[in-house]
Formats: sequence, C-alpha cells, structure tokens
Amino acid sequence: MSSLDRVSTNLAVAASLASATCSADVSQSSAPVIKESELSRLQRTTHELSSTLKVVSSASSQINDNTVTIPTEIAVRIHDAAQKVAISTKDFLAKNNSGAVVAYLKGFGNEHESEALSGALPVGQNNPQKVPYGLYAEQISGTSFTTPRSVNLRTWLYRIQPYVCQGQFTKIDHPTIVAEFSKMHNDPNPQRLSPLEPASIKAGTDFVDGLISITGQGNPSENTGLAVYLYGANCSMKDKSFCSADGDMLIVPQEGALRIQTECGILEITPGEICVIPRGIRYSVELKASQARGYACEIFKGHFRLPELGPIGANGLAHPDHFQFPVAVYENKKGEHQLVNKFQGDIFEAKMDHSPYNVIAFRGNYLPFKYDLSKFNTVNSVSYDHLDPSIFTVLTCQTQEPGVALLDFVIFPPRWSVAENTFRPPYYHKNTMSEVMGLIKGTYDARTTGFVPGGMSIHNCMTPHGPDSEAFKKGSNGDLTPIFMKDTMAFMFETSLPLKLTPFANKLRDRDYHKCWEGLENNFDPNNP
Ligand SMILES: [Fe+2]
Repeated sequence: MSSLDRVSTNLAVAASLASATCSADVSQSSAPVIKESELSRLQRTTHELSSTLKVVSSASSQINDNTVTIPTEIAVRIHDAAQKVAISTKDFLAKNNSGAVVAYLKGFGNEHESEALSGALPVGQNNPQKVPYGLYAEQISGTSFTTPRSVNLRTWLYRIQPYVCQGQFTKIDHPTIVAEFSKMHNDPNPQRLSPLEPASIKAGTDFVDGLISITGQGNPSENTGLAVYLYGANCSMKDKSFCSADGDMLIVPQEGALRIQTECGILEITPGEICVIPRGIRYSVELKASQARGYACEIFKGHFRLPELGPIGANGLAHPDHFQFPVAVYENKKGEHQLVNKFQGDIFEAKMDHSPYNVIAFRGNYLPFKYDLSKFNTVNSVSYDHLDPSIFTVLTCQTQEPGVALLDFVIFPPRWSVAENTFRPPYYHKNTMSEVMGLIKGTYDARTTGFVPGGMSIHNCMTPHGPDSEAFKKGSNGDLTPIFMKDTMAFMFETSLPLKLTPFANKLRDRDYHKCWEGLENNFDPNNP
C-alpha cells in the first residue's frame, strides 16, 4: 500500500470513528465520562492533522489536471497524524463501549454550539423553514430580548419535540422548600448548623426531594432575592427531571459525585467542583455514590458572571478558559416522565410521554456549566495584612448598584499564607453584607472546632463574627513563616440582602455556637503598648 493509500484509509477510519463518537444516541445507556487527558490527546492529534493538511493546501500549486503530487515527507506526516487520530478515537470508544460521550466545550461567555448528529445545526440562520432531521427549532431566553448585547443570554435548541409538549402542571407539596421568605423568622445571632445526618435522609430521597431551604430573602414572584439550600439524597432521579422557573441554581457538592443530565448535555461533578443550571433548563441528577450531600443557592434575579478584575489585570481568579459546557447528547425515548417545575416558590408536576432530553443540537450562550475549584488562580497579600475575601470571588451576580452583589460565590482554597507582622486568620468584623459559609473539606482557619464539612454558618447583616478563642490565640502567637494551607476548601455565599431563617435551619442549629468566643478575654493593659 502506498503512503497516499494509507493516508486515505486512515482518514476514512478516523472520520467514521469520529462520526460514531459524535452521533451517539444514549437512549439505552448511561453515558461515560471522557477524561480530560483523553480529550486533550484527541484534540492534539486532530490539531496536528489539521496543521498537516494546511501544509498540503499550501502546496496546491503542485496540483494539475486532478493529479496531486505530494512530497513523500508530507504524505508520511499526513499518514502519521491520521493514524494518531484513528488510534485515539478507537481507544476512547474501546474504553467507553456504550459509544456515548461526556465531553466539554470550554470558555465562559462564549457562544457555544454542539450537534449530536452531524448537520443538525442550521447553517447561517437559526430557524429555517425546515430544520434538518425533522427537528423543531426553539429559543430559550435567559434575558429580555432587548438586554444589551454584552449581557444578553439565549440559546437555540434543535429538538425532537418542543417545550410545549410537556403536559399540564398540577401543584404538589414539597415539605422542605420554602416559597415565601417574608414569613420566615429573623435572628441577629450568629448561626452555626450541623451537617445533614445521613440517617435523617429517608430511603428513596432524590436530589429534588432532598432540597431543604435553609435561609434566603425575597421572592421569585418579584424577581428579587435568593434561597440557600442544603441537599441530601440517596437515590437517582429516574424518568424524572427538575426545572426552576425562579432562578439559576448553583450546586456545590460536598459528598458524592453527581452526573447531571441536562437538556444541553451532561455535566459530571465531584466534590471540589461546582455547576450552575440556568433558570428554565431541565435536569436530572444521578448519584455516582450511595449518598450525596451538598449545598445550593438559587438567585431570583440575574445570572452569574465572572467578577471584574480591576487592577489585578487581565488574568487571575477563575479563568474563563476553565469553565466547561456540555456537548449535545440526546434521548429519543418514549414513556412516562415526571417533570417537576419550581414556579414562584411553589412546586408543580406534569406527566410527559417522552424524555425531555431530546435536544439534538444547540447554539447559544445560555447554558449549564461546571467549574473545578482547584483551578482557581488565587491572589492574596504577599506583604502584610489580611485582605478582604472579595479577592477570592469565583462568580458574582451583581445588582444594579455598582459593586453590590445579589450574590458573590467566594472560595477559600488551598493557598500560601505569607503576610508578615499580620494576624493571618480572618479579622473580626460585621458587615452590611450577609455571609453563608460552607465547608467542602478540611478545616477553616478561623475555626478550630465545630465548623465541619457539610455544616454551615450564617452571619447575617451586621452580625459580628471572627476567629474563635483558640484560633485567636494561635493567630496571635504563631510563627509567621510561609505556610501552605493545604487540604481545605471552604466557600461563602455572600449577599447584600439580610437573610431570613427557615424552620429547618432552626432544627440544625448549634445552640452553643456563641460559646466559641467566650474565651476572648480582656487583655487590655494601658501600661504595655
Ligand atoms: Fe465573615
């Protein structure tokens, strides 16, 4: 076989394998995960092939009368590159023999597009008279039509049947989701909550059943406010999906990986990663372990964006490049499906006669996404003093008042602590902003005991807090050599709204929390400056 023949053969193999990979129908199977390293290898080899073909194109002057003369060295390069693509694709399919792909697009703020069947995306327009494959074209808008272009969010979906084929909704009870926060109670005391006890989660509880409103403010009917949840689940959502018409949902797993099937594809997240499901997008949560616990925050107005970087410059904090978006996968599946819809705080259900995950292709910027918190590019003081925690903001949802957030999502990741002549733990403070903290793993430097993974603290508007007595002693007397704070991941939901507390918060409340500061003695000595 000549070099050119081998090129031709391997290109054909690569094309057919790649086509099989991209057009996989997951109706009968659970989609596996494509590891980032495998995807990168495939991307690298594809890129190499593409580069080589550009070389061929530049040699087009050698093409005469349908006869191509390619120097042997170029033919060999094409052959090798094509073979690498074929091997990479074949390896991937061999490891994931269901043929379905969980891969990711990347880039926060990008216009993304994906098609599970080649040619499903209309070319050059969004809603042609006839959509390829007999699909319906449908737009989901996350902002008003006339929202300025820089913050306008919408996605075109190309699906087997449109949203309207969803049946009729009827109201159902959800005993642990609060619809109206104005009826909840106020308490200016600092709050610390215990984690959800696994034994308290009834058998057969899925993610939606296991959502528990803890604190919040405002009302989705008025497009203002937010809700903070704990969740605890021990079974997957089967032929059941959830959708909130009230706001974007930020999910922070603390225990147990989740496979989240959305209309736009699949997100796999483990503790240490987060995801955001935009308002109106349907999703189902499958547990990858016997139990899952974590936190969630739903914002009733606006959407998450990356914070401005100001004098930090063009780089730092969460890189846009590290946000991952799903690729289209679909089910063409008939049968009863329970669609649960949160609408103005109330919960409704409809019985559909098919799977809602019937989007073959999409194009747009209103999409679910995930982010690995370990990729956060931490910036901090390298001279003196403890900086404000806003330096650790991953995502923000701003109000119309400049610099004031409805919600900042802030993390306290592993990092070096190097400030000289400084009390390094957080300083004592009370803020106009309210703070809800959670712990994914490890310990938090302002607490020696009591604040444990899965637990929560709530320091409301102007509620004082700071290091406990032991942390103060350690921070005041410790050696100020550079220290790497490892194996820790705490986070904060910080909001400009004062927060109301639900009865479920009261159930989990540690009534001795205030005692952690009882050891802060009067050390004042006017004769010892
Ligand atoms: Fe604080």
